[in-house]
Amino acid sequence: MNDNRIGKILKTEDEIKQKVHELGEQITKDYQGKSPLLVGVLKGAFIFMADLMRQIDLDCDVDFMAVSSYGAATQSSGVVRILKDLDVDLTGRDVIIVEDIIDSGLTLSYLRKNLMARKPASLEVCAMFVKEGLQKTQDKVKYEGFYIPPDFVIGYGLDAAEGLRGLPYLAEYLKV
Ligand code: IMP
Ligand code: MG
Repeated sequence: MNDNRIGKILKTEDEIKQKVHELGEQITKDYQGKSPLLVGVLKGAFIFMADLMRQIDLDCDVDFMAVSSYGAATQSSGVVRILKDLDVDLTGRDVIIVEDIIDSGLTLSYLRKNLMARKPASLEVCAMFVKEGLQKTQDKVKYEGFYIPPDFVIGYGLDAAEGLRGLPYLAEYLKV
């Protein structure tokens, strides 16, 4: 796609594919004999979720939540509003939150607390991208894809004002 908002490519389609494969293998090992529930955070995680699920060699269930943080468009305020809640009951389930990217970590921190209150058997997080040095919380993420510089990025599910989500790679976003 030729678009002047697309900057330097940070992770290519092949690099992403390989990493998703590795994450899927690790989850497959760790959850042997179990049937984890993957909880995707819309909208950003839907592409990663679809790829990840097909790299996990277990019969996983899937559900989605949609959240939005109040405040500025490109920065998380930490106050999260649930726009769409889960359909399934988490009691006794092995839950894996699937996130596109962790920036401040505030969205994740809220989600973790919210989902823990529903008494899952276990709760872990799988995030495709983690921005270096920006997390304001101490929550640990068990499955991490790539660490990336703290700039605004687009592609592989990540949007800028709803645009450019469909790029098969991760790129810097150029303000025009
Ligand atoms: P956090 O609460 O600051 O960790 O923000 C997490 C959410 O903000 C992610 O799930 C993304 O939807 C969005 N986000 C954070 N950084 C970026 C970015 O660089 N590009 C697009 N969306 C982003
Ligand atoms: Mg998001």
